[in-house]
Amino acid sequence: MAEERMTGKVAIVSGAARGQGASHAELLSREGASVVLGDILDAEGEAFASKLAGDGAEVEYVHLDVTSPDDWAGALKAATSKWGRVDALVNNAGIGSYPGAVDCSDEEWSRVIAVNQTGVFLGMRTVLPAMIEQKSGSIVNISSTFGLNGAEDAFAYQAAKGAVISMSKAAAVSYGTAGVRVNAICPGVVDTPMLKTDIEEMGAEGIDGLVEMQAIKRYGTPEDISKAVLYLVSEDSSFVTGAVLVVDGGYSAL
Ligand SMILES: NC(=O)c1ccc[n+]([C@@H]2O[C@H](COP(=O)([O-])OP(=O)(O)OC[C@H]3O[C@@H](n4cnc5c(N)ncnc54)[C@H](O)[C@@H]3O)[C@@H](O)[C@H]2O)c1
Repeated sequence: MAEERMTGKVAIVSGAARGQGASHAELLSREGASVVLGDILDAEGEAFASKLAGDGAEVEYVHLDVTSPDDWAGALKAATSKWGRVDALVNNAGIGSYPGAVDCSDEEWSRVIAVNQTGVFLGMRTVLPAMIEQKSGSIVNISSTFGLNGAEDAFAYQAAKGAVISMSKAAAVSYGTAGVRVNAICPGVVDTPMLKTDIEEMGAEGIDGLVEMQAIKRYGTPEDISKAVLYLVSEDSSFVTGAVLVVDGGYSAL
């Protein structure tokens, strides 16, 4: 049997009830990690965690609204009270948003920044002290190709995803000497429930147009992104911090 890369490690994954987050939680647990899954979709999250536990995984589901400092404290407590430590945080939770700057209301701006940007900040602020104390840890923040490049009509989303990249670099620089690594991943078009909403908002032609621009002309799968997450939270990437790993089938190589 191949050696597991997360044996003895404890991870927290936000937005883990479905889509990419569920896939990250599943792969990390398959690689030996104990995993706290957090989401606001409690029924889906509980069911998914039960399925993983039924397959022998060490997992716990918690209600985690990433905009709530108290919920983050609860997620950390779930990890430390049960397993005594936290080695990895995957800030994956996110929501789509489609207006351009002119049409972006105050409410839409606040909603998207709260989840996609402030949620990532709160996650890092909550777990960093424990990682600093144990002198090790790896944080992966999920940005997007939309955090790197311009695109039509996703103004607040792009603002937040760009900030995720700069926050990752800032924290990487601040906490490298404390033994904590922080990296960002930019997925391209990935086949999840969010993509179905994207298709409803932008039309199938809009999404197919993006895929057509890729070097590899297919949708990404959640597992494509999970393998990058596993690399960044494991010791395989022990000299990698402040990096932006693009996993997009070559979309941003153009
Ligand atoms: N699907 C894509 O094409 C794509 C591309 C680039 C980046 N991303 C990013 O990847 C990440 C995962 O997205 P996905 O494609 O799996 O989407 P998804 O909608 O399938 O999953 C997102 C998860 O986040 C959860 N969530 C939303 N608001 C939350 C909150 N306030 N607190 C906690 N959880 C919350 C949702 O309930 C859901 O389970 C997101 O950050 C997204 O922006 C997605």
